[in-house]
Amino acid sequence: MSSHRHHSRPAPDPQAAADFRSWLEAQRQRVDAALDRWLPSENEPPEIIHRAMRYSVFAGGKRIRPILCLAAADAVRSHAPGVMEAACALEMIHTYSLIHDDLPALDNDDFRRGRPTCHKQFGEAMAILAGDALLTLAFHVLARAELPDSNTRIRLVEELSTAAGTPGGMIAGQVEDLQGEGKTPTPELLESIHRAKTGALLTASVRMGAICAGASDQELAALTRYGRHVGLAFQIVDDILDVEQSSETLGKTAGKDARQKKITFPAVYGLPASHRMAEREISAALQALEGFQERARRLRELAELILHRTQ
Ligand code: IPE
Ligand code: IPE
Ligand code: MG
Ligand code: MG
Ligand code: MG
Repeated sequence: MSSHRHHSRPAPDPQAAADFRSWLEAQRQRVDAALDRWLPSENEPPEIIHRAMRYSVFAGGKRIRPILCLAAADAVRSHAPGVMEAACALEMIHTYSLIHDDLPALDNDDFRRGRPTCHKQFGEAMAILAGDALLTLAFHVLARAELPDSNTRIRLVEELSTAAGTPGGMIAGQVEDLQGEGKTPTPELLESIHRAKTGALLTASVRMGAICAGASDQELAALTRYGRHVGLAFQIVDDILDVEQSSETLGKTAGKDARQKKITFPAVYGLPASHRMAEREISAALQALEGFQERARRLRELAELILHRTQ
């Protein structure tokens, strides 16, 4: 671990860390089982598209967005109908965004989640269509979710479409990211790219969980603050890992941002300052949870995971 990292918060005891790891693994399994139920089977014609969708979804992502969604609901109350569907919809949008991000016309990557990218395996046309199908399926799942009322459903659709689209959402961020290649990296451009391309969907993950749980306006506002801070921290750390980690550990090609002259935190501020900024965002995220006590334990642990992850 880098020597310039602060440690302003106490290290968790080993028992709590083990408990968190097993909780995390259990959530991943629950999410994967639900995704498996929603995705058409590989034998369903036209087989090729369902194979491509499943190839990318079940390649072993960290499932951070669905797990943030589940944990945000837990922070509000223990029973949140429809939250697993919201979690699946988020992971479908995220996986579609990765498939398209890797296409030759975008970042042109051959390696993702530890295997060849979707377009390397299935060809560009099928990769484009697999992304399209996952994007569409996400909204189908929200249409079918067992939610308490239609107002909740509409709010979820609004959250997800706003976060995934433009202006201000993931697509807007991807556009700015591509247009930024080779441009002078400025702090303003950097923050606007990162908030949109990654922060918006992570914030929506937290908000959608909270909405399923029937959060009050005040709870939703606090959780939104948490989401914005972990969202920004997540992409700062993604940029840092691109510089510091191996492709093998990341399961995707390391060192690409510098080669493609991307506007990243390390490019604008350097590595030591980027580490400190990620740390500050996580502290602010934890502060936003102060009113929640024990129910928000998993959100706190997830914030630390986002900061200290190595992949
Ligand atoms: C990678 O996201 C792309 C970004 C938005 C930074 P993740 O790091 O969550 O990727 P997976 O889902 O674990 O593969
Ligand atoms: C990806 O950002 C953001 C989205 C897919 C929306 P990056 O291009 O930095 O993601 P990686 O590093 O390829 O996973
Ligand atoms: Mg990209
Ligand atoms: Mg990329
Ligand atoms: Mg990256």
